[in-house]
Amino acid sequence: MTEIRVSKAVVPGHVTAPDVGASKGSGTPLVMVTAYDAPTARIVDGAGVDMILVGDTLAMVVLGYDDTLQVTTQDMAHHVGAVARTKPNALVVGDLPWLSYHVSIDDTVRNAAALVRAGAGAVKLEGGRKRLPAVQAILDAEIPVMGHLGLTPQSVHALGGFRVQGKELEAARVIVDDAIALAEAGCFAIVLECVPDGVARLVTDTVPVPTIGIGAGRHCDGQVLVFHDLLGLEDRMRPKFVRRYAEWATDGTDAVRRFADDVREGRFPSSKETYHAADTFPDELRLTGATTEAEAEEPAPA
Ligand code: KIV
Repeated sequence: MTEIRVSKAVVPGHVTAPDVGASKGSGTPLVMVTAYDAPTARIVDGAGVDMILVGDTLAMVVLGYDDTLQVTTQDMAHHVGAVARTKPNALVVGDLPWLSYHVSIDDTVRNAAALVRAGAGAVKLEGGRKRLPAVQAILDAEIPVMGHLGLTPQSVHALGGFRVQGKELEAARVIVDDAIALAEAGCFAIVLECVPDGVARLVTDTVPVPTIGIGAGRHCDGQVLVFHDLLGLEDRMRPKFVRRYAEWATDGTDAVRRFADDVREGRFPSSKETYHAADTFPDELRLTGATTEAEAEEPAPA
């Protein structure tokens, strides 16, 4: 049986947002992995991660869109519910999708609440000081908020593509100041996506809450990867920061091809994979009046 390792970054048992926030400086990096449904949630929780992110990458890796802008709060709640029903030990973080916190404060709080009602223990949203009113309103509704800075995929058009952020001094300064503002507002953790490691290090050393990096180097308080990247299920994009621990797309295609070959060659199903009744059963069925297709087509005797 595989040994299940549980991170020492947070206390054992069901992980909460305050546990994650308090783990800063524990010396053990936090681990977050995305999941979008019950089987993927069981896999990542069984591996002992600290947090399961039901990310809006759902749009790309599960629903086949080219960006994350296509999912709604309803879509996210549907998938948060599937993950939460597995009752994971890890904290379930629900990603607030594009436009769910950009239009009005009322909408923002209601949308965050929809993810909590679906089973999330915290929500994540993208952006810095511009999003402070949204962060504050959600926190006022007693919902923990995780921030997200650097490459914020919901801003893909405004940023001009999926590219590394904070490479210039001024852009790096904006990221650091945004992180300070989010932490001061009360975010319990901050994702840093696709920023140079020096910038991630400065943020990590500056803010009192954990930073969770993705493409942000090793000097963060934790790391997050997308399930489908980590397991080799997503083939369309392979960013440099992804390390693959399996090749499920290749292995899966190979497995289905072997099944198809077995069916076509008459090797599936075997006798062991078949339900059997007594050998006399077909004869007895015939005697009780059941007819085979061949018999039904025979002309009645004169
Ligand atoms: O939606 C997502 O999966 C994310 C991660 C890439 C951090 O936001």
